[in-house]
Amino acid sequence: MKITVVGAGAVGATCADNIARKELAAELVLLDIKEGLAEGKAQDMMQTAALLGFDTRITGSTNDYSKTAGSDVVLITSGIPRKPGMTREELIGTNAGIVKDVCENILRHSPNAILIIVSNPMDTMTYLAFTSTGLTKNRIIGMGGALDSARFKYQLSGHLGCSPADLNAVVVGGHGDTTMIPLIRLATWNSVPVTKFLNADQQKQIVADTMVGGATLTKLLGTSAWYAPGAAGAALVEAIVRDEKKLFTCCVALNGEYGQKDICLGVPVVIGKNGWEKIVEFELNQDEQAAFNKSADAVRNMNDVLKTL
Ligand code: 2OP
Repeated sequence: MKITVVGAGAVGATCADNIARKELAAELVLLDIKEGLAEGKAQDMMQTAALLGFDTRITGSTNDYSKTAGSDVVLITSGIPRKPGMTREELIGTNAGIVKDVCENILRHSPNAILIIVSNPMDTMTYLAFTSTGLTKNRIIGMGGALDSARFKYQLSGHLGCSPADLNAVVVGGHGDTTMIPLIRLATWNSVPVTKFLNADQQKQIVADTMVGGATLTKLLGTSAWYAPGAAGAALVEAIVRDEKKLFTCCVALNGEYGQKDICLGVPVVIGKNGWEKIVEFELNQDEQAAFNKSADAVRNMNDVLKTL
């Protein structure tokens, strides 16, 4: 198994670190346009192998895509991150060109790769990857919902005083401060609805805090977060390479599911060796479906910006 992570910034490097520690591949390539950055981070990570006991061979490359040839899974984290006060949407002009270029270069050397898109605005970058590459839809996965669902569990666990690992909770819709939809009605604590333990104000607070999870960290850190995004990316890689058939919320191309088409948006999907293998459809209530449609409208508006670039 060979995996490539494009972008050796904080998110890409954290992702690579998680992939190596979990020994998800024999070979892991880190690629960046900044001279020496990927080589340096790869070497630094390789020097943890003796301490952590992993066998993955990590190499770095400054923009030489031939080094990525034959990759099975490629994670794309390239582009500029947001600064405090910025929305993910404001990155579109810069990141669209970068992501399109990266996809082309990657597929030239790894025509069978499954692509995981992390770059922001993630829903639009996933749509761009899908429409510009012409790959079958199952091979394009946007990471946002996996991250947002983990953040949702973090918020729930704080209020419930429980382990985040004991929670089942999903965030559907877009990966934006106003477009994501944490489905608190369906969240459970070891199969008991969390709504049994939380009053209306607490529920509202958890949903609101989840939605601005990324923005809160951007304000604290001065740039966007990396530990949870990196771990979420690696969890998706793991589900693919181990053919886990795990359920994640991911941004995928919809063709009528949840009432939407010609859009990439976050819905529950089964992830396995073929990429996303199945969309799991369940009934949203009226308010949730209305929020989903509104989220789709906002993402569609953003996708329209691609036509003007
Ligand atoms: C986040 O929400 C980077 O979009 C990512 O932290």
